[in-house]
Amino acid sequence: MMKFPDGFLWGTSTSSYQIEGAVNEDGRGECIWHRFSHTPGKVHGGDTGDVACDHYHLYQEDIKLMKKLGYKAYRFSIAWPRILPTGRGQVNQAGIDFYSRLVDELLAADITPMITLYHWELPTALPGGWVNRDTALAFAEYASVAARALGDRVKMWTTLNEPWCSSLLSYYLGEHAPGERNLACALEAAHYLLVAHGLAVPEIRSARKDAEVGIVLNLTPGVPASRAPADLNSLRQFDGFLNRWFLDPIFGRRYPADILKEYVTLGALSSEQPDYMREEDFDLIAVPTDYLGINYYMLHTIQAVPGEEMQPQRWNVIKNPQLPRTDMDWEVNPDGLYHILLRVQEEYQPGKIYVAENGAAYNDAPDEQGKVHDTRRIDYLRSHINAIGRAIQCGVPAAGYFTWSFMDNFEWAFGYSQRFGLVYVDFATQRRYPKDSAHFYSEVIRNNGL
Ligand code: FCB
Repeated sequence: MMKFPDGFLWGTSTSSYQIEGAVNEDGRGECIWHRFSHTPGKVHGGDTGDVACDHYHLYQEDIKLMKKLGYKAYRFSIAWPRILPTGRGQVNQAGIDFYSRLVDELLAADITPMITLYHWELPTALPGGWVNRDTALAFAEYASVAARALGDRVKMWTTLNEPWCSSLLSYYLGEHAPGERNLACALEAAHYLLVAHGLAVPEIRSARKDAEVGIVLNLTPGVPASRAPADLNSLRQFDGFLNRWFLDPIFGRRYPADILKEYVTLGALSSEQPDYMREEDFDLIAVPTDYLGINYYMLHTIQAVPGEEMQPQRWNVIKNPQLPRTDMDWEVNPDGLYHILLRVQEEYQPGKIYVAENGAAYNDAPDEQGKVHDTRRIDYLRSHINAIGRAIQCGVPAAGYFTWSFMDNFEWAFGYSQRFGLVYVDFATQRRYPKDSAHFYSEVIRNNGL
């Protein structure tokens, strides 16, 4: 039996665009994911979040199910353009009312709400998107409006979910909205996202003094394919690109010097401190927070690109044939979670950590009895929860765990083709079927451990 500390927060998580639907209702403005998913060729099967899980209308039923399953906390996000349709200025009361009802419903069900302000629903009305410092100022305004409206009832707040995704994946790799492919723009976007975080934290605290505020990063630990210097060098580059670029500035160390140099070599930065990185930004970005949220899905084995061994920012991710893979083709490796938790604690001492997302896509469907026997997901959850337990035994201050996701939903560029839910959603009827993993997780919560 592996017992977790008393008060360990067992929750589940979703995000607004992935579940809400109702994109044109009650005065909601347009977000970049709406535009992106409606652009042919961007999302698998042409899927969009127009209806998604119709949670906007079914939230009461969904919360009832969460309560029945015994989940203690619910991490969800606010659609920025639902409450500020053009990103700033005019407040849409109907949008606030929706989240207010949602929060009341959660509290009545004894479920702790944890609000993420930005899980990628940038209002399209904001000129330049994230490649504009003004967007960071608009975000601070939005944070203030949201925290003032809900801070009386909501203590737990997250500024940004996975800024690497909203910058590098969206503006450089082009896979997420707005789908640009420009490293220079992506780095500028990343900087303003971090500035936005820095500006929003005090806004939330001023609306609620005892608020618990943090940021959530997607961290992907890596191991080298071999001990060859070229592979070790590639691993350093990969780690700088994905992990240190965000961890370092948040913890007051500015951007990693080795990666800055490489970006200059590539011409993505005009110098190691281009004008848009204002000196005062670095203190803002390093604003003290109450926790670090970590989203963990997989570990990468990193290998140098043959023939380009010592080129900046070049590496291959190779498959480990020993390990199982999910339906996303993501490697299952709970040790990666254990190691990233230990490393973050050793190198950055965040004080408190939430594993804010963890889960797997397995596309098992209901049988004739409506049961979903997703044993692979149960194995995944058990092994990853075990990894957190082991990390806690080594002194890592992990204080909570949130499964991704409460229910199947719109999986970004993969549309509805990948099911991460512990609850199955029949998108034609909007019926929910708790999978075996949902019940397994209830039992973990009842036992406060494995
Ligand atoms: C994370 C996202 C989340 C979901 C999972 C699978 O990167 O935060 O919305 O897409 O991956």
